[in-house]
Amino acid sequence: MLRSLTGRTASQLVRSTAPTAAKVPTGLLAAPAFNLPSAAAPRNFSVSARASAVTNPSAPNASPEFDPHSVTAMDKQEPPAPGSDFNVVIVGAGNINFGSDEGPWNHSFRLEHKLGPRLKVVALIDPSATRADAALTVKRNSFVLSAYKDTIVYPDFENYVKNRPQGQEPHAIWVGSPPAYRGQETPGRDLEKHLVKAFPDVGIFIEKPVSTGPVSEAFNVAKELNGAKNVVSVGYMLRYLKVVQKMKRILEENNLKVMATNARYFMAYEHTAKLDWWDKSQSCGPIVEQATHFCDLSRYFGGEVDLDTVMAHSLEHFEPAGHLSKMPIDENKIKPEERIPRITCATWKYESGAVGSLTHAVALQGYNYATELDVLADGFSLRLVDPYNAPVLYLRRPGDDHEEVIRYNQDDPFFSEVSNLIDNIEKGPGSAPILSSYEDAAKTYALTWKIREASEKSAKKPA
Ligand SMILES: NC(=O)c1ccc[n+]([C@@H]2O[C@H](COP(=O)([O-])OP(=O)(O)OC[C@H]3O[C@@H](n4cnc5c(N)ncnc54)[C@H](O)[C@@H]3O)[C@@H](O)[C@H]2O)c1
Repeated sequence: MLRSLTGRTASQLVRSTAPTAAKVPTGLLAAPAFNLPSAAAPRNFSVSARASAVTNPSAPNASPEFDPHSVTAMDKQEPPAPGSDFNVVIVGAGNINFGSDEGPWNHSFRLEHKLGPRLKVVALIDPSATRADAALTVKRNSFVLSAYKDTIVYPDFENYVKNRPQGQEPHAIWVGSPPAYRGQETPGRDLEKHLVKAFPDVGIFIEKPVSTGPVSEAFNVAKELNGAKNVVSVGYMLRYLKVVQKMKRILEENNLKVMATNARYFMAYEHTAKLDWWDKSQSCGPIVEQATHFCDLSRYFGGEVDLDTVMAHSLEHFEPAGHLSKMPIDENKIKPEERIPRITCATWKYESGAVGSLTHAVALQGYNYATELDVLADGFSLRLVDPYNAPVLYLRRPGDDHEEVIRYNQDDPFFSEVSNLIDNIEKGPGSAPILSSYEDAAKTYALTWKIREASEKSAKKPA
């Protein structure tokens, strides 16, 4: 649900100081970080980077798992080498796996650039054969033909398991189907169980949110996956951003305890024309579906949330201030009680005692979202701005009232999450960090539901 990302050429890490955040020239903020045509291929968590970071005392900000100076631009990477086939099963022929003009996501594109001629998409599973065929036609008419020329379309996973040709066992399964069909225990919505049963050794990628069903069932699925041998990675890709890793590094190096997180997610609604997105019965609402990324980042920095402390208020569609003048859909098609809130403000306590807060707004027009996350610690303010489009970290340290500006150009977190999972499959578990486990993602799911429930409990009722 995010638009943007026009081109910008690569340059190296830019670090500069600015007198105040308000005085930072806007040009500094206008740099899309991961544009599609020249998407980066970060090796920012490579084993070699880890080794050199540990042994190089002159690299004060290098982490054992994070090399901020690694070259990440796609055109600076070695092209993927030829070699044995790497078989991938893709579940879902929609936007996340095959791209759209809504945003930079497109997992197949990253798989192609990670694996090059080795990529063989042996199956595409989607109940809509039309959509699957359309996605394959585009690929087969392009230079990646060899990866898709023998792809077979199946309507569901069981069908694939039963009817797949011999000798094409998958190395990875890439799940980008709607969350309503996974993360649960009822038949037809329990994909994970079938994945690990049929392919106990295969690497699995699963998109966020992990489910739309009961939170308790998502935790049961997490248990099942924890007990399985499969390497599993969930698509909270913002964790892979270099600026986010830099924030982690600063907190670690300075032995800081986070005191507060303050997340703001203001979406631009004018062009969000998917009816289901506006319908809580379909997409679970904007906190579970969208602000989940910022709830996840908040947890990444603040730690475990005491779910009993979550409080929230909302501005509902029937309240005078909740009227939106540029609705892109006919909201009359949605039952009044299933229409989404325009504003949700939540607060909570972390188990550490720190305080978290989130404001989600369906309020902006145009295309670009405004998203920010503040992380506060004694003497430090780490202000992450626009992580989707042009991630910048504004850092205030003790002894200086000014904010330092830290940014990394052409950093592609979508590529990093793809690349790291493939490395785990090929080089063994732990060869690159998997930053979002299923169990951790289930905890984010639980937080988002708590916020939704708290806001509904306190919501004003229609007259
Ligand atoms: N990380 C991100 O930034 C990001 C961005 C976009 C979407 N997503 C996530 O990706 C997932 C898919 O979103 P999307 O935008 O691609 O949706 P989409 O509607 O564009 O595509 C979903 C596809 O899945 C197919 N499908 C439906 N039921 C299925 C089933 N049981 N098995 C297999 N395929 C099935 C549909 O026919 C459709 O082709 C969602 O969980 C969404 O939140 C994440």
